[in-house]
Amino acid sequence: MRWPNGPAGLCFGGDWNPEQWPEPVWHEDVALMRQAGVNLVSVGVFAWSWLEPEPGRYTFDWLDRALDLLHRAGIGANLATPTAAPPPWFALAHPDALPVTAEGVRLSHGSRDTYCAAAPAYRAAARRIAAALAGRYAGHPALAMWHVHNEYGSWCHCDHVAGAFRAWLRRRYPDLAGLNAAWGTAFWSQRYSAWEQVLPPRATQYLPNPHQALDFRRFWSDELLAAFREQRDLLRAAAPEVPVTTNFAFGDWVPVDHRQWAGEVDLVAVDGYPAGSGIEAEQQTAFLADLARHWAGGAPWLLMEQSPGTLGDRGAQVAKPPGRMARLAVSSLARGSRGAMFFQWRASAAGAEQFHSGLVPHAGPASRIFAEVRELGGLLPRLAEVDAGAVSAEVAIGWDAPSWWALRQPQLPADRLDYLGALARAHRTLWLAQVTADFADLSGDLSGYRLVLVPSHYLAGDRVAGAVERYVAGGGQLVVWYFSGVADRTGRVRLGGYPGAFREVLGVWAEEFHPLPPDVTVPLSDGSRGTRWSEHLHLAGAEPVSRYAGGELAGRPAVTRHRYQAGLAWYVSTELDQTAYPGLVGAALAAAGVRPGGLPPGVEVVRRRAAGRGWTFLLNHTAEPVRVPGAGYELVSGARVDRELALPPGGFAVLRTGREPE
Ligand code: GAL
Repeated sequence: MRWPNGPAGLCFGGDWNPEQWPEPVWHEDVALMRQAGVNLVSVGVFAWSWLEPEPGRYTFDWLDRALDLLHRAGIGANLATPTAAPPPWFALAHPDALPVTAEGVRLSHGSRDTYCAAAPAYRAAARRIAAALAGRYAGHPALAMWHVHNEYGSWCHCDHVAGAFRAWLRRRYPDLAGLNAAWGTAFWSQRYSAWEQVLPPRATQYLPNPHQALDFRRFWSDELLAAFREQRDLLRAAAPEVPVTTNFAFGDWVPVDHRQWAGEVDLVAVDGYPAGSGIEAEQQTAFLADLARHWAGGAPWLLMEQSPGTLGDRGAQVAKPPGRMARLAVSSLARGSRGAMFFQWRASAAGAEQFHSGLVPHAGPASRIFAEVRELGGLLPRLAEVDAGAVSAEVAIGWDAPSWWALRQPQLPADRLDYLGALARAHRTLWLAQVTADFADLSGDLSGYRLVLVPSHYLAGDRVAGAVERYVAGGGQLVVWYFSGVADRTGRVRLGGYPGAFREVLGVWAEEFHPLPPDVTVPLSDGSRGTRWSEHLHLAGAEPVSRYAGGELAGRPAVTRHRYQAGLAWYVSTELDQTAYPGLVGAALAAAGVRPGGLPPGVEVVRRRAAGRGWTFLLNHTAEPVRVPGAGYELVSGARVDRELALPPGGFAVLRTGREPE
């Protein structure tokens, strides 16, 4: 990405909300930002009612002064359009643009994100305020990047949405017969005889139509994208040199297909809020960072928001102990982030998020947190050179947002099927083995990977089936877990035995699913136990690795391996336990010739490479000092290392090998 007015090194900063503070505080803020080495702040994210207090009357004077102040301090503005929080006047003037839940409840203003993204009045108002900002600030010297909206992801089921959904469906299906076939409307008398009868999936008596629900999520991702594009195009036209982004949220409530959206932004920006304060925070940070890199097509991306001082854990905001803020931020840098941005600069004194942590906490700058902020700001310039290196991964995990969405449906054979959980388990197992993973789209070229893991890839069309077949035929190693390849892209079951799309390459077929209730396990021939799921599996070329050793499936294969042309494909028909799961992944890694890191447990390692040089990130997440082998120039301490590196508890290092940067 060309970024003429971007920060010289890695981005460092956060959301700055001057509208929440009297002006003298802005001056203190900017002085503190300079002390801390901040070079980019997101401004105006929720400032609509301060920018347009009445329809068409703009009050830009305060933002002029705020941006001038930033510019004088050499800090770039990641200037937001405020369209995620329409003002109260907008809601009262356009009640039809307030969102309606699936149950038919129209929401009222009083929070943020309370609008219908398909309502013409909302779209027009969003375009107007974006155009006004573009007109005023396109040439402002502080403008480094446009930040459109905030975390696209709000929902609506109103009549505007119904109309837009129908228009989208008419583009997708040649005619109503096509829609009726794809949605299986012969079941329960749902056959549509006119387009006007088709609705968004609103609350209904019993199980909804899963194909309709899946298409609605696809449609809504596209509809939100259309809203984003309208703003982006206005901003681009006004300032062609200034990159445009939007911050992606990640969670079940987010209907956005990030991978598809990533092609529409100049820089993929992601907000990362792990759930949990134990080691799972590090693992989730790595998971999201690797996903973000996938969405970005391997290019640098930006961690746009993370919480400075706390981690949410079962209802409590748990304080990050000293050093953890920096370590988590560096873990994202290792995995391709072009900086470390936070929400937010100064903790708010009032409002819905008044107890959210800030880089400047309520206590003020004379605080441990702000001291750590300054330290991180001092460190980042020393790490800037890593931005040139591509993250190196030999293993990939299949990623498919529609499979995730489809596994949220209520009609499946078990409600314990958990897409994100399955991916997280595969990723965590590699993380613990100190093996870096990419995420990958299975319909693409997989030949660069030694091993591809495929958990819960429920939907697979012929393109995915073909690409996976070519990968294994060409010598790739594959592990597929249960409930993958079962249905096509519309969610229609692929007949003739599960896992339909991957049957041939796996050399097995399943006649029946045998899902297991929470308290039931099945013994396996290797002494381990399966949970959650089992299958009545037949061999069709594969050899058994383990078998069911009890219950109705006793003697039948549980885990299989199939030599398919030059490659090897494993199938796992149950949820393996804490021993068998890493054992299986370990065996697949060994067969693929991928070596685990071999470092002390709790150390994270990531390698980045560029022509003639490389960087190894080593992060010690344990409370003990560790020693790891390595040689080169260490960027954090600025010291040369000959053979071995000492990492203090919670410490990290970045080792450069190869030539010096120019
Ligand atoms: C993000 C959001 C921010 C703030 C933050 C709190 O999802 O973009 O505006 O609400 O969460 O953690």
